Amino acid sequence: MHVYLNGQFVEESQAAVSIDDRGFLFADGVYEVVHIYRGKPFEWDRHLARLHRSMAGIGLEGVSDHELEEARDRLIHENPADEAALYIQITRGTQRRTHAPPAPGAIPPTVLMWVRAVEPIAAEKVAQGIAVITVPDDRWAKVWIKTIGLLPNVLAKGKAIEAGAFEAIFVRDGMVTEATSANLFRVKDGILYTAPVTNYILPGITRQVVIEVARQAGYSVVEEPFPVDDLYRADEAFLTGTLTEVLPITRVDGHSIGEASGPVARHLLSLLHQQAGLV
Ligand code: PDD
Repeated sequence: MHVYLNGQFVEESQAAVSIDDRGFLFADGVYEVVHIYRGKPFEWDRHLARLHRSMAGIGLEGVSDHELEEARDRLIHENPADEAALYIQITRGTQRRTHAPPAPGAIPPTVLMWVRAVEPIAAEKVAQGIAVITVPDDRWAKVWIKTIGLLPNVLAKGKAIEAGAFEAIFVRDGMVTEATSANLFRVKDGILYTAPVTNYILPGITRQVVIEVARQAGYSVVEEPFPVDDLYRADEAFLTGTLTEVLPITRVDGHSIGEASGPVARHLLSLLHQQAGLV
């Protein structure tokens, strides 16, 4: 399998970056993950726009849309699959270790892209729903930037798995923010609730698409902060994310919120799949 690295398509096993890459040393970089459904990138324009916002957020320059789109198309072409993930990572480049970032444009960024097949989420998991735990949101205050600095997310996910759960939900000042790699919704009396877009969440593309299709289908969607207690008392809850799609939650910190996945989550998953051209 070929990956794209700095202008070249190279065999995965041959692709290497320097020990002085600022992504490796400082997590000085940003990324995107795009779902490829039957060869078509889902919501490419929004992912590209968010990548630009993330790059601007850390003062990173030197990547053209043309480069990204050409590489994207070749990688998709070379890796045909029903469903795949396109990963894009851009770091500030390679420079002898110093905290001081080079001036914008002074050194070329490192651009890595690959496409790999993914399995659709198991129907059983969608039917049963997943268990989650809540953890303190100890991430920095610029979560809106999709940085590769994901250590708090990695540790929180590990904690969830240790507790026999699938995901961890971050809680900041008593209010639910999001999951380690997905956004979160709850449903009460037929109304959808999710945390508002602030600097404390990653503005998920799937979150936005789900809000749009839900409103079109007649649901009210409230984007306001809510406390953990509201999650415990929800009729339903679910995650949204590029590879997570719409994933029902049925247990939060050991509290049951339904024996099986709820009808609203399942409805929204089918609307998302429609949007992606799957049904
Ligand atoms: N994660 N919140 C966080 C912290 C995320 O990392 C992600 C995505 C989301 C959902 O965003 P979107 O709907 O645009 O995928 C929310 C990607 C998929 C990842 O890290 O693999």
